[in-house]
Amino acid sequence: MQLSEEQGQSGHTGLMSTVAGARLSARNLVGLVGELDPARPVYEALAAKIRLLIVDGRIPVGTRLPSERELAAHTRRSRTTIVACYQALRDAGCLVSRQGSGSRVVLPRAGQGDAADRRTIDFARAVPPPVEGLRDILAQVGNRMVEALDGPGFDLLGNRGLRDAIAERYADRGLPTTPDQIMVTMGGQHAISLIAHTLLRRADIALVEAPTYPHAYDALQRAGARLITTPVTTAGWDVDHLIETMAAARPTLAYLVPDFQNPTGASMPPDSRGRVADAARRSGTILVIDETTADLNIDRSWEDGPFARHARRSRSDGSGVITVGSMSKSIWGGLRLGWIRADTATIRHLALARAAGDLGTPQMEQLLGEEIVRSMPELLLRRRELLTEHRAVLTRLLDQHLPQWTVPFPEGGLSLWVQLDKPASSALTSLCEARGLALVAGPKFSIDGAFERHIRLPFTSPVAELERGVSMLAETWEQIAVLGTARPEISRLPGVV
Ligand SMILES: Cc1ncc(COP(=O)(O)O)c(C=O)c1O
Repeated sequence: MQLSEEQGQSGHTGLMSTVAGARLSARNLVGLVGELDPARPVYEALAAKIRLLIVDGRIPVGTRLPSERELAAHTRRSRTTIVACYQALRDAGCLVSRQGSGSRVVLPRAGQGDAADRRTIDFARAVPPPVEGLRDILAQVGNRMVEALDGPGFDLLGNRGLRDAIAERYADRGLPTTPDQIMVTMGGQHAISLIAHTLLRRADIALVEAPTYPHAYDALQRAGARLITTPVTTAGWDVDHLIETMAAARPTLAYLVPDFQNPTGASMPPDSRGRVADAARRSGTILVIDETTADLNIDRSWEDGPFARHARRSRSDGSGVITVGSMSKSIWGGLRLGWIRADTATIRHLALARAAGDLGTPQMEQLLGEEIVRSMPELLLRRRELLTEHRAVLTRLLDQHLPQWTVPFPEGGLSLWVQLDKPASSALTSLCEARGLALVAGPKFSIDGAFERHIRLPFTSPVAELERGVSMLAETWEQIAVLGTARPEISRLPGVV
């Protein structure tokens, strides 16, 4: 079922150009919404779609929606339908309306809204369980926790013991590093955000992969960057495109995930790394290399060590490569432990800027982190066992139940970047959400609404949930095939957004 006749005629596809606080026109909202679930009343199906876009972040919190009158006129639906839709969004805690200032998007409270209550399976987040062996380390370190009480309690760079351990691990992997080149952060996302807000100025150009990890481009945009993209697929990067784009646009910063990239799972071969590092040096671009997923090797035959090994010292302030690390995927996300590795001048600069936002990473976690880094080889073997099994289960299930999809077999990482046989990722996500299966639609991984033909499926859930989740996917895809609720694929890829 189409929301508006106009959309059907023009094939208009909504672009994700909405910025928090901005006003979303009826035309753009209709473009983002796409097809509606024909099995539900229009007002309810429309509210479900808008809610999904809000929860997904494609309509940012603070955005002003078009007036009910404008949306009714644009969609040629009755005013009563749109009023009921907005009321449903208010009831779900997604919208507040005030006389004179319109309806603004707010973040729904946890547990609010229809599907949230029924949600049982989470294919939206690639969150693996705590690595096997973490409990033992926790028990061992428990007694040492009191040591934390002897110190001042917090500092901007992080505990010396943990920074030593992280630096030694880099050195062991072929990249000599001193502890003053490390800052401990509260996870990888904190690191990316701090780097973006410290090193970028409004309207600077930042290059990102398409598709990429969404909260990274979010952080860069919030820091004021104008984004440009370079493509990456499950087969890897178009390195010539990446190098030519850097030479032509001279971005201030390029954010890359060269190992088991999220969401494609691709790894950049060693010779390409050298070429990219050289190109960045020539264009004066700071490479922000996110190695959050770098320890998730399953069966990649080569190991090249940290990307920064390819950087040559050429800038007065250091190598020009900033590395982000995290324990969230390899060990456990609940630790909220990450770090930044850079030249000492950059680390000092980041430390000065950090105080405006937070004053340091909690001590207890850092003590635990020190033990974890020292036990890393053993813990990563355990992580690899789990990923090997779960990747096999998910690929087998998809092969059985959805043979029409193109399913990659990544050499590592946590998820499959699956190609659908028709461009209906948002429709699939929306219908699955109503059944209690949380997904993130392909377009969430792009800055412009592309990738309707893709869906990211993490293999991190327990096996029983993978089984139930794939049956739900298959049933829902069948429903889409019968009812034809696909929306047109977005093919435009603007250079600068
Ligand atoms: C590539 C990448 N970087 C960073 C993060 C954020 O990591 P953290 O949980 O350590 O903040 C994620 C999480 O999904 C990720 O996939």
